[in-house]
Amino acid sequence: MTTAPTLARTGAALSAAAHPAITPRLVVPGSTDTPLGLAAERDLGTYLPGPHGADPTVLLDTLEAAGLRGRGGAAFPAHLKWRGVAAGQGPRVAVANGEEGEPASAKDRWLLTHRPHLVLDGLLLAARTVGADRAIVYLSHPDTVQAVRAALDELTADGDDRAADVEIRTVEPTYVAGEESAVCRFLSGGPALPTAKPPRPHESGVDGRPTLVSNVETLAHAAWIARHGAAAYRAEGTDASPGTTLVTLSGACAEPGVYEVPLGRTVGQLFDEVGGGLADGVHGVLMGGWFGGMLRRDHLATGCCYDTLRAVGSGLGCGAITALGTDDTPLRVAAELSAWYARESAAQCGVCVNGTKAIRDTFARLADGAGTADDRDRLARWGQSLPRRGACAFLDGAATLARSAVAEYPEAFPASP
Ligand SMILES: Cc1cc2nc3c(=O)[nH]c(=O)nc-3n(C[C@H](O)[C@H](O)[C@H](O)COP(=O)(O)O)c2cc1C
Repeated sequence: MTTAPTLARTGAALSAAAHPAITPRLVVPGSTDTPLGLAAERDLGTYLPGPHGADPTVLLDTLEAAGLRGRGGAAFPAHLKWRGVAAGQGPRVAVANGEEGEPASAKDRWLLTHRPHLVLDGLLLAARTVGADRAIVYLSHPDTVQAVRAALDELTADGDDRAADVEIRTVEPTYVAGEESAVCRFLSGGPALPTAKPPRPHESGVDGRPTLVSNVETLAHAAWIARHGAAAYRAEGTDASPGTTLVTLSGACAEPGVYEVPLGRTVGQLFDEVGGGLADGVHGVLMGGWFGGMLRRDHLATGCCYDTLRAVGSGLGCGAITALGTDDTPLRVAAELSAWYARESAAQCGVCVNGTKAIRDTFARLADGAGTADDRDRLARWGQSLPRRGACAFLDGAATLARSAVAEYPEAFPASP
């Protein structure tokens, strides 16, 4: 079980709202308090019972035209991933990843408990499109299991036999349990721990079959796009970062929660327009969950676009953004998060075990006032040298924390003698 630091845990009830400037697609009226049942989904026109009529190739082209990118963290183009699995040999597997191990994120949980039919629709659509004969919903939180099971029961009661094709598999929540190779390993009967790549899941995943692992929000958008088309999807967002997305706002803001927002708004606008405004003294944010490192206050003016955030060494990740208030001093935050990284490492790769511990110990020294400029320089070096060295990207998160703390808050570190 993940023991998360108190600092940036969302703590927020699973309240959700849509940005006032958009016509919501996921956080639709009626879904904010209770799960949207089958009848309500049909009323919305977003759920079509029975086999999907769309030709798989047409759907893949539509996803490409829409510019849908994955919402699990890496923002990989959905159509490329789906095509990769579709091109695999033999029977395939489709997995909806709803594990959501990121402590600062609550959006997948909200989606699964409020729009379970939309996620299931996306999963069944994906399975059909990539040629999978197994569709699995991979979950940790008991409330999500209950919601998905109820939705499947509702489908069955309605005479829709596709519900029988969907398996629910539950896993103990840890940070790495949602990483795609850990997902496939667990679903093949092993522990929920990452494996070395290659092979990647699209080559050899669950039981050695080509496997699509998709975040549940990605699947919900795919279902929406299948109904409404690429042009409608592009009606929100920007050319390069189209559509809406779910964000989880937390930390030093008035109204933490899950929000559906158009891509392209600045970080500051998001907090002002839906998060109830930032508290006085906010000096920066944790961007993209605990995985995405720190951005100082100047970046409140940075747009939530894939390329813009990459250009400043960050990313939207899973869409979790935590405002850092006056008590959240950079070194204290870094010490707390790096201690969590050291605890949550799967402890399979020496470089991850040693790297996360070294980062933790160094930040602990600095937060205690016993650090040196050499410690700062070491962190900066690790920030460059450690990414891509582990079997999964977990170590990259710890390295990003080290790199971004030094780059964004140089004044917080001891100066060179
Ligand atoms: C350490 C680690 C943890 C991850 N945890 C999750 C998770 O909880 N949920 C998730 O959807 N993706 C998670 N991912 C990303 C998955 O590996 C994978 O990229 C994602 O599920 C693919 O979905 P998408 O293409 O729809 O974004 C994690 C990645 C890493 C490196």
